[in-house]
Amino acid sequence: MTAQLNPRGDVAVLVPAAGAGVRLGPGRPKALRLLAGEPLLVHAVRRLAAAGSVHSIVVAAPAAELDAVRRLLAPVAPVTVVAGGAERQASVAAALAAVPAGPDIVLVHDAARALTPPALVEAVAAAVRAGDDAVIPVLPVVDTVKEVDAAELVLGTVDRSALRAVQTPQGFRREVLTAAHAVAADPLTDDAGLVEKLGVPVRCVPGSEYALKVTRPFDLALAEHLLAAGV
Ligand code: C5P
Repeated sequence: MTAQLNPRGDVAVLVPAAGAGVRLGPGRPKALRLLAGEPLLVHAVRRLAAAGSVHSIVVAAPAAELDAVRRLLAPVAPVTVVAGGAERQASVAAALAAVPAGPDIVLVHDAARALTPPALVEAVAAAVRAGDDAVIPVLPVVDTVKEVDAAELVLGTVDRSALRAVQTPQGFRREVLTAAHAVAADPLTDDAGLVEKLGVPVRCVPGSEYALKVTRPFDLALAEHLLAAGV
């Protein structure tokens, strides 16, 4: 059944889904790879649509797959689909340009984080609503982290207690994300990085193990197991 979004919601979600997914091995663009018989993007959008504050969802899809993605998502939720760009940042910018008037909060969420709980979407949005301009969900880093040189020789050990692994959805006051993309130069791997360059403080909130980014074949296998276990 097609989910309804909330016409009185204050949140727009941008979903960059235009990546090739090279690290998953050869095949379709990553967002269209199957997880338990459905594309990663379908899982991700279904969970976003289940978050009560979401007013609109804009997906940036591979340019060659626009019609396919529209057909795929039509039964899932009312979604705007635009062509993504060569870099993740360009895909986010394209989606941001298509956000309708209304929502004051914009979340950016990787399609590859297909099992992200709706409660995490709401928690990030709530932190922005409560006054932070930029909010990111994070997990502590569990492994010891080394910095290495080009020859894989260790340069030093990083203090793990001060490190965080960053997930999505990342949440922003709409004007702040728009301003950050307007001045963006070198492509970065996340949107909070752009906002940091503006000097805007970025708040960390607890992330979720279930928001893992499906990147390598092992992640796909893990996500299949989690789904089978009822996540
Ligand atoms: O490559 P990475 O894993 O960082 O990609 C994160 C998200 O950004 C994925 O959902 C991917 O589809 C998306 N992406 C995009 N446009 C690109 C590259 C990546 O929308 N050109």
